[in-house]
Amino acid sequence: MVVNAKKMLEQAKEGKYAVPHFNINNLEWTRYILEECERLKSPVILGVSEGAIQYMGGYKVVADLARNLDEELMIHVPVAIHLDHGSSVESCKKAINAGFTSVMLDASKYSLEENIKMTKEVVSYASNRNITVEAEIGHIGGSEDNISSEIAYAKVDDAIQLYEQTNIDFLAPALGSVHGLYKGEPCLDFAKMQQISEKANIPLVLHGGSGIDDEKLKKAIQSGICKININTELQIEWTKAVRTFLDIDKVSYDPRTVIRSGEKNMKKIIAQKIEILGSKNRIKF
Ligand code: 13P
Repeated sequence: MVVNAKKMLEQAKEGKYAVPHFNINNLEWTRYILEECERLKSPVILGVSEGAIQYMGGYKVVADLARNLDEELMIHVPVAIHLDHGSSVESCKKAINAGFTSVMLDASKYSLEENIKMTKEVVSYASNRNITVEAEIGHIGGSEDNISSEIAYAKVDDAIQLYEQTNIDFLAPALGSVHGLYKGEPCLDFAKMQQISEKANIPLVLHGGSGIDDEKLKKAIQSGICKININTELQIEWTKAVRTFLDIDKVSYDPRTVIRSGEKNMKKIIAQKIEILGSKNRIKF
């Protein structure tokens, strides 16, 4: 059931668990994620980066694909179709008009004033259309869509100002996690996470969820995180399985067979994350 992300994240905050945000890259990934979340009765956020949107053919292709799969597969769990790291107000508006139910404006590279101004503009457009909005403060860093950037920890006061002045639905404060592979141990600032959560009282988002061990993920949830973004681990596990398949099977050439060889591994990771995040069996039907 396609919905915005408001209720699912409020319920996660209340129940002290996190909703998984899995990034999608193609039709098959979308299908595997939906099927596994339905099986485990977990709400889910389908995150789509601008790179993935471009790869798949455009905003409308993605929104229609996710909506049609949701309908054809008869998915009962709540599913949000979410723009991940929208780089401009325009990109967020495009996603909303195409049928996304949730957007993230990532104005973290701008000054706090500019970030607030741009975020306000997206919120005013989105709230009239019942669409949820995520904003970022500090800078998450690492590597995504083949673009690398440095990490900058969020300041508590900046996070609170962004929250108080914009009416966003959820907030991603950069507190040590990175996109892509970690160099060394992730160094998360749980104390700041807790402070921001207490002062802002909205669901917080942890980007760069791949490569963070289970205990740290659970501690993050205890510190106010209600949405955890995972992409890299799914990519690694899917590719590992496909590589093994192609090393052994030298005769198959049907792309459906090749792509499907990664399904089991991907679903295994999805199930493991849902277990750790505590979102399993949260939906009754
Ligand atoms: P990972 O690269 O750690 O999977 O993080 C994905 C993410 O945060 C997308 O916004």
